[in-house]
Amino acid sequence: MNAERGALLRPGVEAVVTAVRPAGAFDVVSLQVPGPSPWAGARPGQLVVVPVDPRCGSVLAQVHWLAGVHDDPVHGTGVELLLPAARETQAGEVLRVLGPLGRGFAPPAQPVPALLVGHEGGAVPLRWLVEVLRERGCPAHVLLSASDPELHLDLVHLRRHARSVVLTLPEDLPAALERALDDPGVDPAVVYAAAPVPVLRTVAVAALRRGRVVRVAALDLAGPVVCGTGLCGACDLEVTLDRSTTVVRPCLEGPVVPGEWLVEAPPR
Ligand code: FES
Repeated sequence: MNAERGALLRPGVEAVVTAVRPAGAFDVVSLQVPGPSPWAGARPGQLVVVPVDPRCGSVLAQVHWLAGVHDDPVHGTGVELLLPAARETQAGEVLRVLGPLGRGFAPPAQPVPALLVGHEGGAVPLRWLVEVLRERGCPAHVLLSASDPELHLDLVHLRRHARSVVLTLPEDLPAALERALDDPGVDPAVVYAAAPVPVLRTVAVAALRRGRVVRVAALDLAGPVVCGTGLCGACDLEVTLDRSTTVVRPCLEGPVVPGEWLVEAPPR
């Protein structure tokens, strides 16, 4: 049985909220989980599902990006999620969580420069990825778009770990992206992106045209995502594989996929 199927068959674990820190329109929520396995091997770009619980009145599962995992012998295994501030999460609350699910971002084998591109709350995986990249010695530059400054997530954390953080409006993102890709001070060998699919396509086209490696988290949690475990088909996405069009299920077969998958195949 592979790890992903194993995760789907697990009933989830009870996680206790140990801290809640405000970050704009979001709360950074720290949870204590029984650990360390399987969380110790988790990566940015993986998912956490809070399953349906009729006893609590929830009729739909909630799907969240995993925003961080910290494991130490004194404090045990801690997991971070970014939840909407409107949820009013409280310390001491108990959540049943299933995860980590899906395929996350693999950091580069060598300490090469990286550009991270995100949009609003969809950029949660980048918050953790920038930390991982810094630990690996990769200079990381972050480019974020948001329609409202309040929707930029946890900038203090990002600025602590990134070489640079550039904020832009959604309509200005394509031009800002071109500038970053052509900036000798950034010069990314790899581009990571987490945003709605049309933005990911723009990032993939621009970066691949310059011969950069591109990996994208091809799941928009603000869009139609119902189960997060590959059962419902709500997240199905048309992609290009081997020069032909096919449908993949990002929450199961991704969410992180090569940027090439989102670029239209040239005519044969
Ligand atoms: S959200 Fe249900 S299959 Fe992806």
